[in-house]
Amino acid sequence: MSEITEMLIRRGFLWQSFEIYGGMAGFFDYGPLGNNTRRAIENLWRKYFVVNERAVEIDTPTIGIEEVFIASGHAESFTDVAIECENCGKIFRADHYIKEKLGIEADETIESVMEILSEYDLKCECGGDFKSPENFNLMFSTTIGPGRGKKGYLRPETAQGMFINFKRLADYFRNKLPFGVCQIGRAYRNEISPRQGVIRLREFNQAELEYFVHPKEKKHPDFDKYRNFTVTLVDKFDQEHNITLGEAVERGIIAHELLAYFIGKTADFLLKAGIDEKRMRFRQHKDDEKAHYAVDCWDAEAYTSYGWIEIVGIADRGDYDLSRHRRYSKEDLSVFVYYDEPVKVKVRRLIPNMKKLGPVFREKTKKIAEMIEKYEGEVGDSIVLNVDGEEMRIDSSFFDFEEKEELIHGERVVPNVIEPSFGLDRITYAILEHAFDTDVVDGETRRVLRLKRWIAPVQVAVLPLLSREPFTSKAEELTAKLKEAGIFTEKDDSGSIGRRYRRYDEIGTPFCVTIDHQTFEDSTITIRDRDTTKQIRVEVEKLVDVLKELLSS
Ligand code: GAP
Repeated sequence: MSEITEMLIRRGFLWQSFEIYGGMAGFFDYGPLGNNTRRAIENLWRKYFVVNERAVEIDTPTIGIEEVFIASGHAESFTDVAIECENCGKIFRADHYIKEKLGIEADETIESVMEILSEYDLKCECGGDFKSPENFNLMFSTTIGPGRGKKGYLRPETAQGMFINFKRLADYFRNKLPFGVCQIGRAYRNEISPRQGVIRLREFNQAELEYFVHPKEKKHPDFDKYRNFTVTLVDKFDQEHNITLGEAVERGIIAHELLAYFIGKTADFLLKAGIDEKRMRFRQHKDDEKAHYAVDCWDAEAYTSYGWIEIVGIADRGDYDLSRHRRYSKEDLSVFVYYDEPVKVKVRRLIPNMKKLGPVFREKTKKIAEMIEKYEGEVGDSIVLNVDGEEMRIDSSFFDFEEKEELIHGERVVPNVIEPSFGLDRITYAILEHAFDTDVVDGETRRVLRLKRWIAPVQVAVLPLLSREPFTSKAEELTAKLKEAGIFTEKDDSGSIGRRYRRYDEIGTPFCVTIDHQTFEDSTITIRDRDTTKQIRVEVEKLVDVLKELLSS
């Protein structure tokens, strides 16, 4: 077990779920400190992606009915290739096993896996042969209601809850594009063989933004904020660029300004939350790597002890989801977009010739005449109409043409979606790893978690120098005051003051407040800074204000 993992478990950040029953891969519990840290990251995310965007947050069920996932394509396409050993019965995710044993990237298709198995004569760890590879759907299925019930799935992403509410959401935004919708919550994937600790989970937390735009306007009003922002990009041809986002768009490395904007905003957020800039990059998906819904996708990756891991996926989903739900639900999921100015267009209308139609079509004449009037397709020597289920070819001699100029005020469009999708658990873990450091203080090696002040699970520790009156009562009083002010505060009076400092350094507490003898003489108190270990003395009266200022800067 690595030093950081040992510390995270021992100090109450992360625990193996179901531990007393032997545990289960793919599930982790957040202890008190981990829970606080993830919540702080979540709140920062909300500030960036809800409050500071034209966006709202909603909350939808984590169980979805089958129809949703048939329409979304997940029932058919949300699969990984699994290989099962004939001998020991162990099952592995094929591409991971191949990468681990042979160091090569396999396409996630049955054909590609079969080819590699036979070409390299790849065996199971026990020496056994593998059966033919199979697609394994990653969704957990369930039954809703008693008896046969109704088939449902635990959602594999929060996104679908937002797409299927599109009509109501568009209404909420007065049908004006662009707008964003967010959801923070659990997602579930029945990962085949989650062997990467907290990285690959079967139940995890996502924070997703679906940003709905006009398909021809993939821009953002605030792009200038990130135009000169430099990031490391690895494009789909594995070329690395250290480049500004403006230049990346100009050179066509990033397809459009909106994707670039969200790459910039994601980088900004991750740095603010505590990801190390030198261990962060954005990698574009290769053409055969993209999810079934994606037109283009860039992952934010963080370098950790597990190598480069994807922590955010920023996808251009085009109109895939809305078009599919439109087709399957038969609901109109388009919006009417008004032009800035009405546009004059020439419209050709067909005028039915009743005198000629009557004798030929008799009782169907009226219906055919109406259909001719409404006809909007191509016109050659004839047109084809579907009359009561029967295809009828109507010769052009049965109608005349009329050309008219009309004023058009707008058009119906199915919006496109750009989706920054954040995995909160992976981000939390990467931040904890990046913050973990050791240095030497007073000739002694100390472990210190250099978390950002606004992310730390305990922001202030109140430490009475001695664990007796009047020190302890003063500590109680100040702890209550700081908690009242909304600062995550703990009081600790056990052990030497030096050991207590080390304890709070290890969990990333930015400030320790110490009540000493002088406190009772002149009503002052010391504040110790985690990173510099320097102390300042302030008046007790001013403690809350000083700490609030320090924590936000
Ligand atoms: N709605 C799009 C979507 O779900 P994704 O790339 O599959 O896209 C988004 O997932 C993020 O969710 C990933 O970048 C990752 O951080 C996190 N994630 C995905 N699968 C995960 C798993 N099995 N365990 C933990 N986090 C996961």
